[in-house]
Order: sequence, then structure tokens, then C-alpha cells
Amino acid sequence: MKQLIPTLLIIIVIMSCVDKKKTPNNAVATLKMSQSDSFKKWWKEGVLYQIYPQSFNDSNGDGFGDFRGVIEKLDYLESLGITMVWMNPFFESPLVDNGYDVSNYKAIHPRYGTMEDFQEMMDSMQSRGIKFILDVVVNHSSNEHEWFKQACSSRDNKYYDYYHWWPAEKGKPPHRHSLFDPEGGWDYVEANNSYYLHTFAEAQPDLNWENPKVRQEVYDIMKFWAEKGVDGFRMDAFQFVSKDTTFPQFPTGHEENFAKWYGMGPHLHDYLKEMYKEVIEPYDVFAVSEGSGSTFQDAHDLVDADRNELQMAYHFDYVTLSRTPEGYTLADFKEVFTKWDKEFAEEGWLAIFLSNHDNSRLVNRFGNPSPEFRRVSAQMLNTFLMSMRGTTYTYYGDELGMTNIDMPTIEEYVDVSALGEYGMAKKRGEDMEEFMRTLNYNSRENGRTPMQWDDSKNAGFTTGIPWKRVNDNYKDINVAAQDKDPNSVLNHFRKMVKLRKDHEILVYGAYELLDKTNNETYCFTRSFEDKKVLVLLNFTDHDSNVSLPIVNTIGDLLINNYNEFMVNGETVILKPYQAVICNLKK
Ligand code: NOJ
Repeated sequence: MKQLIPTLLIIIVIMSCVDKKKTPNNAVATLKMSQSDSFKKWWKEGVLYQIYPQSFNDSNGDGFGDFRGVIEKLDYLESLGITMVWMNPFFESPLVDNGYDVSNYKAIHPRYGTMEDFQEMMDSMQSRGIKFILDVVVNHSSNEHEWFKQACSSRDNKYYDYYHWWPAEKGKPPHRHSLFDPEGGWDYVEANNSYYLHTFAEAQPDLNWENPKVRQEVYDIMKFWAEKGVDGFRMDAFQFVSKDTTFPQFPTGHEENFAKWYGMGPHLHDYLKEMYKEVIEPYDVFAVSEGSGSTFQDAHDLVDADRNELQMAYHFDYVTLSRTPEGYTLADFKEVFTKWDKEFAEEGWLAIFLSNHDNSRLVNRFGNPSPEFRRVSAQMLNTFLMSMRGTTYTYYGDELGMTNIDMPTIEEYVDVSALGEYGMAKKRGEDMEEFMRTLNYNSRENGRTPMQWDDSKNAGFTTGIPWKRVNDNYKDINVAAQDKDPNSVLNHFRKMVKLRKDHEILVYGAYELLDKTNNETYCFTRSFEDKKVLVLLNFTDHDSNVSLPIVNTIGDLLINNYNEFMVNGETVILKPYQAVICNLKK
């Protein structure tokens, strides 16, 4: 390849087209303008950043991130150009599942600060053009919620019907799989002689949505937060809320297709329509569903505009692509993104993401974490996410290319899901060495390590003892270092966010895949009105050629993570993990 280069037409483009001014007010203006058109919505144009609050920034030295820590980093958030923040739960909770077990939905866990701190944090974000999305965890509560404590006391208690029970005199309940508990989805309570249902951990009893009083409680909680000014809700585990309360037997092995058997229950749509009328419409907020059933139709039924239910969904096909250290094939990756885009081209809206708090780091799973390629591969993945149709979700730290942390033995794990999976694997008699290898690669603890701010002790996250070990690579990968480096993952992320906000085509443009069978590169166009852009991505650690007639019409480059861009006739030679977006001439 090296000998060939001198004979090629080499276009060297020094990227100078992206200015570095902060643009929060422009963002607000763009958002407002687009609201006049019924299809265009602020939440479609939004660039969402997810904050895992205990790992973001600790202001008081207790080792846990908190609201005042986020307030200290508002300039940073603004500098990213993001327009929405989704924050994982921070409500009162015994923290069995790091806050996804809520014991009081209207109170803040003191670890994060006070209600005043929350209000100040949210108001300050909003004054900088950043909308706030609240995590609503109402498929289940904590077993320490007052409702559950009372429900356990007696079958006559008014809260008994707030949960799902199987009276013990009927014998053992039909098996239900639990995602976190190796012992299954029912647990016995002696005081009321009944089994309660829990889709997740034993400490997370499922709320009984079939009870209208429960639904009113939930709407009341949502109104409480809407009145404080939140702009939207992320509905945790929402596809599971409605259940067939006769609890029929499910066939052996049914849990392999969990969403099909446990999701999209009989009255889910009635409840969503009710919620829309009670909360979403009157408060003019939006809601995104975690999960989208098991078919495209299920997803459409949740989010299409004429349904008046939810506004956006995220499904798991993107992230389940790479669940083992053996990785994924690019052809499968393209197929997943292409089929979902096709299904939602005319109607409905999806989130686009490759990582979150339930997954390991994006660069380990889809890029290349080696020192040689981490920077370029993280840039390539962020280019990809920001140039697809759908609302882009970036998990904190992915704008730096933060990587997995090595945790080879189970003793270091604290996550209820990892421990549950370990118990299940043991029960099934799996090869535990192999299991640990996959867990180490895949566990969600990888994505929860403290944010790497600088090269001082604990990466500048805390002056105390961090609740979770800081990744050893923080001296190399941190905000302070990347801020200064024009070629860093961070500065590339900022450019990509600006590019997306400045080019409606990247939000609304039609998508067309150009190289379906190529297992090294991912090339697609986006078209909107009379414009067309080409996105060229190399997913490998070596040069890779793309030969397409469309290359003849390449115009100005909009972004490039290398200083060079090599074209020879109809062939582009992409450097390892190179990512380029360019205009196409008519
Ligand atoms: C989905 C959340 O994303 C996950 O973190 C949590 O453990 C479960 N729901 C249970 O709430």
C-alpha cells in the first residue's frame, strides 16, 4: 500500500472548518424554530448525554458523585454542546441496584445532595440550553418502600394490591424468571403467607399496574417532577409493567426470549394512553421507553405519533451485538442499524446508542482499546453515532474514549446483576473460568468507573476514597489532557456535536447503506431536501479501500479524524478507523 500512495491523488485536508465557540444559545434557537413543524421536535434534534451520578464528580469528598459535583462541571457540559442530560436515579433508595430500587420517589438520596441542590443543578442546565430527563423506575419499587412494607404486613392492608401476590395456599406459583435472582421471580413473605413477584432482584418487587391506584400514584410522582421543571422521562423497564395476572405456566426455556414472554403485557397500551393524557400532554414533556417489545410492530405501537403513548424507544439490538469477547461482525452491525432505520424511516423515532450504564465501554466492544488505536476508533464510533438518524445518546466518558477496567475475579464485583448472573451460571454448571472471562469483558461495572477529569489522585473525581476503583489509565485518558489536544477524542466529539446541530440532514436525512457486504468499512449517505452527505468509516486497524461511483462526486469535507484523505478515482483509501463525512456534489 505504501508504494502506491505517491501515484494517488492525495488530498490533504487540514480540518479548520469547525469553530470552537460555545453555542448554547444557538442550540435553544434551533430547537425553538423547529418546534413549529409538527414532525420536527426538540427531542429529535437533541444530543443527549447520560450522567451516572455516583460516578461523575464528587464535591464533598465522600467518594460518591453528587449534584454539586455536577454543578461544578456545568461549563464542561456546555462545552460539549450537548442539549439534553439523562441522569440515572438519585431518589431515596437502599441502593441494592444503585438506585433502581426506589424507597421514596419524591425524595433525594442524601448521597447526592438536597432537593435545593437538585433544583439548582437542573435550572442551571436549562439556562444553558440543556434539557433534563428524569429516570422513572416504576415497574418495581424497593422492598423498603413504605407501600411494600405495609403490603407485607397483611392481606387486608390497603397497599397489598400495590404489588403482585400469589397466595401460598394455592401452592407454589408458576415459575417466573428473574433477570437478577438465580432463585427465580417469586419470593415468600411469611406475614401475609404470599409470594411476591420480582422481575429483577428480590429487593425490587414489581408494582401492580393493573391496580388503578398504583397508576395514579405513578402519575402523581411524574407530575411532582414535571412541576419542578423536568423536560422528559426515561421509563425504566417499562415494557414489563402490564401482566397477565392469572400467571399462566410458561414453557421451559421461555426466558431465552424474555421480551416476548414478559414484555408488552395485555393492558400496556391502555396505561400508556392514560399516562399520556394525565402527564405527557398536559405538561408538554416527552418520554422514552427502555425496551421496545420483541417486534418492529411492538416498537411502533409504543412510539408512533398517532398512538399518543410514548415518543421514543430504545431497543437492545445495538448493544447485544457484542456481548462476548469474540466480538461482532461489521455486516451484522450494519444489518441491525439498517433494518431499524428502514422500519422507522416514515414513522416513529428511536434512540441511537452503543453504550450506557448497563454495558461495558463502547471502545472495548465496538472499537479498539489498544493504545495505538483507542483514539481513532473512539472518534470513528462517535462519528458514526452522531451521523445516524435517531436521537444520539452518549454515555459519560465515551466522549474521552474511556475503557473497560480489568476485574478478573468475582470478589471485586458489587453489582446485583453481575452477582445474579454468576449465581445462575453456577447453577447451570457452566465453565466458570469462561464465564468470568465474558463477565470481565461485558459487565456493566466496566461502564461505572469514576469519570477521569485529570491526572491528579483519583483522576480528580474525589478527594476521598472513590466508591469504585478508578481506571488505571486515567493519567493518559482524562479531560484536562484531551482539552488541550486538538486531535483528542474529546475535541473530535465536540466537533461532531456541532456538526450534527448545524446540519439538519444528520438528524432528519434519509439513510442509504452503500456497502452492505463489506466487512471492513461502513459507508452510507444521508439525504435531506436537495442535499446529500457521504459518511465513510473504517472499522479495522488497517488501511481499507472503498470503491464506489459516488466517490466521484465527493465535495467538501465536513469532518475527518485524520489530517489526510486519500482518493484515487472511484476509490477512497481509509486509514485505520478513519471516519470522514463529506458533502456530495449534485
Ligand atoms: C434497567 C436499568 O437500566 C438497569 O440498570 C436496572 O438494573 C434495571 N432496569 C432494573 O431497574
